[in-house]
Amino acid sequence: MDIRLESIKFLVTGSTGLVGRQVVKDLVEKNHEVYSCYHQEKPDTGIPVHLDLADYELLTKILQKTKPDVILHLGAMTNVDLCESQPELAMKINSKSTEILVKESAKLKSFFVYVSTDYIFDGKKGMKKESDTPQPLCVYGKTKLEGENAVMNMASSWCIARTSTPFGIHPTKKSFPLWVVENLQNNKKIEVVNDQYTSPTYVPNLSQMLIELGTRQMLGVIHLAGKTRISRYDLALLMTEKLNLNSQLISPTSMESFSWKAKRPRDSSLDVSKANSTLNEKPLSIEESLNSFINDIKSTNKS
Ligand SMILES: NC(=O)c1ccc[n+]([C@@H]2O[C@H](COP(=O)([O-])OP(=O)(O)OC[C@H]3O[C@@H](n4cnc5c(N)ncnc54)[C@H](OP(=O)(O)O)[C@@H]3O)[C@@H](O)[C@H]2O)c1
Repeated sequence: MDIRLESIKFLVTGSTGLVGRQVVKDLVEKNHEVYSCYHQEKPDTGIPVHLDLADYELLTKILQKTKPDVILHLGAMTNVDLCESQPELAMKINSKSTEILVKESAKLKSFFVYVSTDYIFDGKKGMKKESDTPQPLCVYGKTKLEGENAVMNMASSWCIARTSTPFGIHPTKKSFPLWVVENLQNNKKIEVVNDQYTSPTYVPNLSQMLIELGTRQMLGVIHLAGKTRISRYDLALLMTEKLNLNSQLISPTSMESFSWKAKRPRDSSLDVSKANSTLNEKPLSIEESLNSFINDIKSTNKS
């Protein structure tokens, strides 16, 4: 069932994050009412609401007070290695808080959108479909999967949107393609893994797809990511081609050369054919995404 409303009351968690910031900006531009939930730093768009995902009483109170039509739950402990060293905190922030939010949203009959991750898969084989079985390798993936399970078991109407390596412009978070550009422009050598594959997702594209899910109240699990499966190394080379940078400064390396605390999936690319066939906002290819991202970099540098 497609439900289209003029102005919808949204509540967004993680509204200052890489993805959340864009989502709130886009929702406000579409004239929706937006409760912009933040933890440490006050957001510059939407109606700011302080929220700590570890404070369950506060979560309940905020939902009861705001009574949103749609909850976009993006807030999470996203540092994969930190999750590995602090599993209890990760469980609290990523899983238990989701359970609390979902329970309350069912009482309010709010539509619940949970943003999940490609890291719920083991990465042995990529281009995972929504129906494939999750098998997380690390605490981050496990805690996000617990969050998914809470949504499936407790929400009355819900959607789980899994994404992969989002990139975009943010005042404090440096996305991988921008890191590549800045190093090469400064003539610095970089090492980039060539044996780990994902589906890099351009944040403005992800934001529009998430908003469409929320406004149309589309049910079920869906993969919202970029259309292209690519390694970081090949992505870095693409940036050098597009900006005429020196590709000799990039050395390929393997995942084994990093002593990460958390185990990462080798191929966590996502099959986005469901999103492609059901959404009006289609997942972009890496070419389309990088072209837009380069324009964003140029306009940020100008202003
Ligand atoms: N980044 C990725 O590579 C990736 C890949 C796949 C899926 N995802 C999923 O996509 C979603 C958005 O990710 P993102 O990249 O935008 O993450 P992000 O930039 O790390 O933002 C996370 C947000 O969560 C908030 N948060 C963290 N702890 C909190 C707490 N205790 N109470 C309230 N808010 C808290 C942060 O606020 P403060 O900074 O103020 O604490 C921040 O606004 C997440 O659910 C993530 O699991 C991310």
